[in-house]
Amino acid sequence: LIKACIFDLDGVLVDTAVYHYMAWKRLALELGFDFTQEQNEGLKGISRMQSLEILLAEGGLVFDEAAKLKLADKKNRWYCEYIEKMTADEILPGAASLLKELKSNGIKTALGSASKNAETILRNTNLLSQFDAIVDGNNITKAKPDPQVFLLAASQLKVKPEECVVFEDARAGIAAAVKAGMHSVGIGNPAWLNQADIVVPALKDISIDTLNNLFHTKGT
Ligand code: G6P
Ligand code: MG
Repeated sequence: LIKACIFDLDGVLVDTAVYHYMAWKRLALELGFDFTQEQNEGLKGISRMQSLEILLAEGGLVFDEAAKLKLADKKNRWYCEYIEKMTADEILPGAASLLKELKSNGIKTALGSASKNAETILRNTNLLSQFDAIVDGNNITKAKPDPQVFLLAASQLKVKPEECVVFEDARAGIAAAVKAGMHSVGIGNPAWLNQADIVVPALKDISIDTLNNLFHTKGT
């Protein structure tokens, strides 16, 4: 029986994945190499520092720890400039209505994001009040694919892992949901998200009825 839905933020509720990509690409170009959208897929759901490691490896560059912190900080400053201007218009189709539908059906909602900027984004898009629990990059020590972020969300909601459905656009995020023992809905490319229970193009393709049919949210 499903009692809670846990949502990733970037690329699921809001289209910040594109801003992350813009900022990483800008950093790569400044360092003298290109960074493609395909390469960027592998960064989705991955923490800031780990993403930087992957990016630098793609460019064949090596930096010491202090220099890496400066580069990550630079990327984050650009990223923060992009998200500062966000509004509720940038909530992805179907996200706001699904959150409301879940609430009115007594299903709890949580955010489970690796981002340290999650609260800023939720505030700017007016989504902050939609969640019963918020777990983000400031509350966790282990990044996806580790299940920590989702397990912490479930414990804050006081539900069991098997009572949760995770919504994720990242391969690492679906892997984390599987490791947590939760159900999962992939948002995006089915070939890339093949570990998910079901993959849909966007949240607008999911309703409470779909969830009932798939995961039995009602006691039948
Ligand atoms: C999410 C995104 C990643 C991002 C990570 C950390 O998981 O999908 O692309 O690197 O959050 O975000 P932050 O805002 O803390 O740099
Ligand atoms: Mg994401």
